[in-house]
Amino acid sequence: MILTQDQLKRIAAYKAVDFVESGMVLGLGTGSTAKHAVDRIGELLRQGKLENIVGIPTSKKTQEQALSLGIPLSDLDAHPVIDLSIDGADEVDPYLNLVKGRGGSLLREKMIEGASKKFVVIVDESKMVKHIGGSKLALPVEIVPFCWKFTAEKLRSLLEGYGCEANLRLGEKGKPFVTDNGNYIVDMHLEEDMGDLGAVSDAILRLPGVVEHGMFLDMASTVIIAGELGVKIKTK
Ligand code: A5P
Repeated sequence: MILTQDQLKRIAAYKAVDFVESGMVLGLGTGSTAKHAVDRIGELLRQGKLENIVGIPTSKKTQEQALSLGIPLSDLDAHPVIDLSIDGADEVDPYLNLVKGRGGSLLREKMIEGASKKFVVIVDESKMVKHIGGSKLALPVEIVPFCWKFTAEKLRSLLEGYGCEANLRLGEKGKPFVTDNGNYIVDMHLEEDMGDLGAVSDAILRLPGVVEHGMFLDMASTVIIAGELGVKIKTK
């Protein structure tokens, strides 16, 4: 039987929720894969199979979903250390480095997942790549709206050597997409692999106007990959 991509996402998500125990503080991810995990946590709470969970949502959308499911919520101020975060990714390399942010919530995700003792990433096999940030998908960078063209141009010229095009992400009616934090996103389309990811990450973060980027380096502790031939779990 051929499974749809959404079925694979759900399989990975349910597997990750097996790591959840009663009493945990949980980072709740954003996107079509993480949505299945949040649904499942809500279901287990309703059935009384999980108790005393506190969820820390990584976006307004996830916050709404979790509230509708009756998952008790809090934030990083009240819970600076999170037991476990579960979230999807756009790309995963063999070292478990990620690109995230196609859904637009990379900043909150990075803050919350970075504060987690364990960060479990859930993907279908199409997300596995040899090098993140190459030609397949864009690398999202969150920037302040103030003089965004100036910052986008600085980003483009910084990554020029990798054949970079920097496009402002657009939302409804052709207007700039605005993140939950009131910022814009520039999608960096790269023709070539970035090589030293840490160096590129540092250089991007040094540019005034940049808030955060979508490379999540050395953050995932486990990646659950659902494919046609079954589930693979990679751990650091
Ligand atoms: C949200 O901004 C993203 O980081 C998502 O986690 C990522 O884009 C994966 O999304 P899907 O699960 O919808 O593919």
